[in-house]
Amino acid sequence: MTIMLTGGAGFIGSHMAAYLLQNHIDFIVVDNLSNSTLSNIEVLNKHFKTNIVFEYADIRDKEKMRNIFSRHEIDSIVHFASLKSVSDSFVNQQLYEDNNVTGSKILFDLLKEFKIPKFIFSSSACVYGLPESLPINETHPLSAINPYGKNKIDIESLIQKDLYFHENCSTKILRYFNPVGAFNDGIIGEIPKGVPSNLMPYLLGVVNKVYPILNVFGGDYNTPDGTAIRDYIHIMDLIHAHYLALSNNENGVKIYNVGTGKGLSVMDIIKAFEMISNKKVPYEIKPRRNGDVAVCFADSSKIKNELGWSANHSIEKMCIDAFNFSKNIDNFF
Ligand code: NAD
Ligand code: WQD
Repeated sequence: MTIMLTGGAGFIGSHMAAYLLQNHIDFIVVDNLSNSTLSNIEVLNKHFKTNIVFEYADIRDKEKMRNIFSRHEIDSIVHFASLKSVSDSFVNQQLYEDNNVTGSKILFDLLKEFKIPKFIFSSSACVYGLPESLPINETHPLSAINPYGKNKIDIESLIQKDLYFHENCSTKILRYFNPVGAFNDGIIGEIPKGVPSNLMPYLLGVVNKVYPILNVFGGDYNTPDGTAIRDYIHIMDLIHAHYLALSNNENGVKIYNVGTGKGLSVMDIIKAFEMISNKKVPYEIKPRRNGDVAVCFADSSKIKNELGWSANHSIEKMCIDAFNFSKNIDNFF
């Protein structure tokens, strides 16, 4: 039996692939390469001396997807495929709706047609909008403050309204906080397409002299050092949560936050980077970025209690692994 990773060539999906290879679990990757290349897959093939089954397909192409389902004995789906840029989602709202929401609907039709009994959905902390209380637990009200966040809320709602997910499927919605870092020895990592908007890949670009300076968006937040606070989680801790979710056979829909529960400021990240890289990070405080919240971190006690998950990697390890991966400057072009 085989796991389908939609969006499996991307940052998080390729790390899931690495984890499954390490644990000798069968899977296939389905990706249209709209926000990735085959590079991580090729590195994994070489490293693990294997040949990952890669299906070049768009999840919105129902016939092609049906053909893929009929050729493989899929028993689980981890649905990573999505466009994920918050800023781009304002510019290309219709595309985001079509790719993310319509694409998921088509996948759900096939999931039911092929009676898939296990499903994991990649959701995001952005479904919480502006945090009303901290740490954020799963009962926090949902609110869309950008079209990408609205897509995630809409997909979660489609899942919640569909009896199949409640009665015939072990369904887990995982709300990721800020995944960073790289596969433990840094052989694969996040390969930004274009200029990155997220903190970690941009910082790596600065440390590797691709970009001259890090703009720190906001130095006047109500936080100890004035910079915004987030819950950064090592990518392999995040992936471990998927493994535990896949190992659980209970039917019904469960929602879990996946974060460390620790909030770190932009300055904390800069300091951690300076320490592990032994390099000064040039930075400048700039005005706040539109739509940013001051503080966001998770209450992850539900996934700890119910699935036995915990985060094991420190912020230093997140920075070391990401830095090791980034040293190959080609990763940034
Ligand atoms: P990514 O862009 O690196 O990977 C997504 C992959 O999906 C890409 O390889 C892309 O080519 C593919 N894809 C997009 N649309 C597709 C389509 N219609 N058909 C087939 N393939 C398609 O992103 P990621 O960081 O790996 O994110 C994976 C998932 O996790 C996404 O659903 C994202 O919304 C979610 N998420 C990411 C973060 C984060 O900070 N990286 C945080 C919270 C949630
Ligand atoms: C972190 C902090 C920035 C870049 C986004 C999405 C969210 C999720 C994860 C998908 C903020 C600051 C950043 C820079 C900076 N993705 N920053 N200089 O905004 O918490 O979350 O990615 O689901 O939905 O919104 O992450 O890494 O962009 O920013 O000062 O060059 O770093 O202002 O305070 P964010 P981020």
